[in-house]
Amino acid sequence: MTVWVGTSWKMNKTLAEATDWARGLAEALAGRDLGDVQPFVIPPATAIAAVAQALAEEPRVLVGAQNAHWAEAGAWTGEVSVPQVADAGARIVEIGHSERREHFGETDETVRAKVAATLAHGLVPLLCVGEPAEVQAAGGSGAHVLGQVERALAGLEAEQLSRVLIAYEPIWAIGEHGRPATVAELAEPFAALGAHWGSRVAGLLYGGSVNLDNAADLLGIDHVDGLFVGRTAWRLEGYLRLLEIARSAEAARARTINDENDDKEKVK
Ligand code: PGA
Repeated sequence: MTVWVGTSWKMNKTLAEATDWARGLAEALAGRDLGDVQPFVIPPATAIAAVAQALAEEPRVLVGAQNAHWAEAGAWTGEVSVPQVADAGARIVEIGHSERREHFGETDETVRAKVAATLAHGLVPLLCVGEPAEVQAAGGSGAHVLGQVERALAGLEAEQLSRVLIAYEPIWAIGEHGRPATVAELAEPFAALGAHWGSRVAGLLYGGSVNLDNAADLLGIDHVDGLFVGRTAWRLEGYLRLLEIARSAEAARARTINDENDDKEKVK
């Protein structure tokens, strides 16, 4: 089973910094067995092409964009389209991050249009959802994110859904002012997402204050297929450690599945 480990750099890194990070990653991964771990990196739009270029020799790492417009082209000053980010080397488009919903007027409707445009051009939408602190305090996390996902993915066919990634990122857990979520707090929203979408989409990821101390535990939560990481992965060493943690978690999962199958064989 694929374990996704991705980072968005948000509005950080010059071209030189972005290229250094990507070249360093390609060097570090050369000849390394990643098992079923799927790395991805989402630079700011200015650096997508440079990062894709620096990773040309390491195509196992997917490159993404942090946003793209729903229209193919036209009079949309300041925006970039899905074909444009694809042309720069992006294969994933992050859509609906809470920072974009809060500061840039992203609504369920624009998120839905961007998911559709991304799929139409053959890229992978990485749909971000998450609830504010008040909703979490009232016990409404699962219902809140299910509503967001439902509105973003309404009307898609099974084949299209099978290409979508969902990142559950509780707003209260994201960024410098965020509070790391506990495993117990994440069980309910992931149970809800898993029950409704787990078998229909490409993966359910967790994001929000992921660090080197909590990554293994987060990957152990039922229905968590990967991590979507900000600050901890902006330094290459941090990202490489996260890949190692994911590789160990993935190997442990594979062993458990094998053991369970062996037990079933014995019962027969
Ligand atoms: P963080 O960011 O890991 O720095 O909390 C996560 C995100 O916004 O995706």
